[in-house]
Amino acid sequence: MEVKEASSTSADGKMDEDTGKVHLKRQLGLISAVSMIAGTMIGSGIFMSPQWVLYHMGSPGSSLLIWAACGLLAMLGALSYAELGTVITESGGDYIYILRNVGSLPAFLLAYTSVIVVRPAGIAGISLSFAEYVVAAFYPGCPSPQAVIKCTAAVCIIVLGTINCLNVRLSMSIMNFFTAAKLIVLLVIIVGGLVLLVKGNTQVFHNAFANTATGFGPVGVAFYQGLWSYDGWNNLNYITEELKNPEVNLPRAVMLAIPLVTCVYLLANVSYFAAMTPQELLTSDAVAISWGLKVLGTWTWIISLGVALSTIGSANGTFFSGGRVCYVAAREGHLVPIIIPVIVLIAAVYLVLAPIIGSPQLEYLYVTLFILSGLILYIPVVRYKWSPGWFHSVTLHLQLLLQVAPTDKNN
Ligand code: ARG
Repeated sequence: MEVKEASSTSADGKMDEDTGKVHLKRQLGLISAVSMIAGTMIGSGIFMSPQWVLYHMGSPGSSLLIWAACGLLAMLGALSYAELGTVITESGGDYIYILRNVGSLPAFLLAYTSVIVVRPAGIAGISLSFAEYVVAAFYPGCPSPQAVIKCTAAVCIIVLGTINCLNVRLSMSIMNFFTAAKLIVLLVIIVGGLVLLVKGNTQVFHNAFANTATGFGPVGVAFYQGLWSYDGWNNLNYITEELKNPEVNLPRAVMLAIPLVTCVYLLANVSYFAAMTPQELLTSDAVAISWGLKVLGTWTWIISLGVALSTIGSANGTFFSGGRVCYVAAREGHLVPIIIPVIVLIAAVYLVLAPIIGSPQLEYLYVTLFILSGLILYIPVVRYKWSPGWFHSVTLHLQLLLQVAPTDKNN
């Protein structure tokens, strides 16, 4: 019985006893839901973008307004999505909403671009930020080698990909852990800033709106910089089918996570401005590290660690939801086109035959003969089912020795 159960459902799927259909288990509660949104939103942006928002807006006051406006936009978007998510209760986020409301072709195009380019590129970008921060710690005072950065990013992608394939619960625990860790690091930045403000470092805010840029261009570009930090606000809508009590938990999680992230972002920006002049901010390589060097001194490694944990957590969230786009699109018949195995087959045949035709050698013949030697066993044992008594007793003894038992098929 045990063996049958384990082989008939995956760790994250559940079989409906009545219909025999397999579907995803509802195992995420409110805390995981909040951490899924906040943990994906807080990635590299808040540690890198503030100087670019300032660069385009020209003044600390207007920069803070842009950060607040981006938060408001994310909140309005997320509230609309929360409504969509309670009406269309399937997982898949943007994909499923377009499929159900607009039609098959636009939904297919979204899944196609998302699976082939957008998600992989997003994960690659976040993993590269992670690798830059981790590797920099081992090369103090000199630039890190690109090959080491890229290999570290690749290892990060492989590890996160494997974890996400293996177990929903494990990747969710990782998500919760990293979200807590990054919130703690941001709290360090916020408290550090408040201490500076209390000590009287308020000069930046005296003439907060001087040099403010006007016009559509700069404001639009500044919005883009800010919005990247809020990207991920719709992440929970990709996994609605795995949420416990989604009608309640989806809107609740949105209303907790987005104001939380907005407040944290605003206070982190205030802290950056309390510690650095606009000029210092604009010439910094990475705002959070420059802040650390000024305020924490030798403890700046906390910030580097925080950025690493923050980015890897955000990449994990992107993996988590990205997998559901493939899953739902495949379920809708949009991602299992026969052309893919055909291409793989043609490529495989070409790769096998090309070297043989290019430079024929006797070894290839030996390999072919070895493969065909299997016929000596296949014809009597499999085809004509020859089974002398000792076969059975050897099998039985081996099963007892290795503690294995035959199982049934999964259908
Ligand atoms: N907001 C994140 C950052 O600042 C990026 C999140 C990208 N992932 C996503 N699923 N939208 O790095």
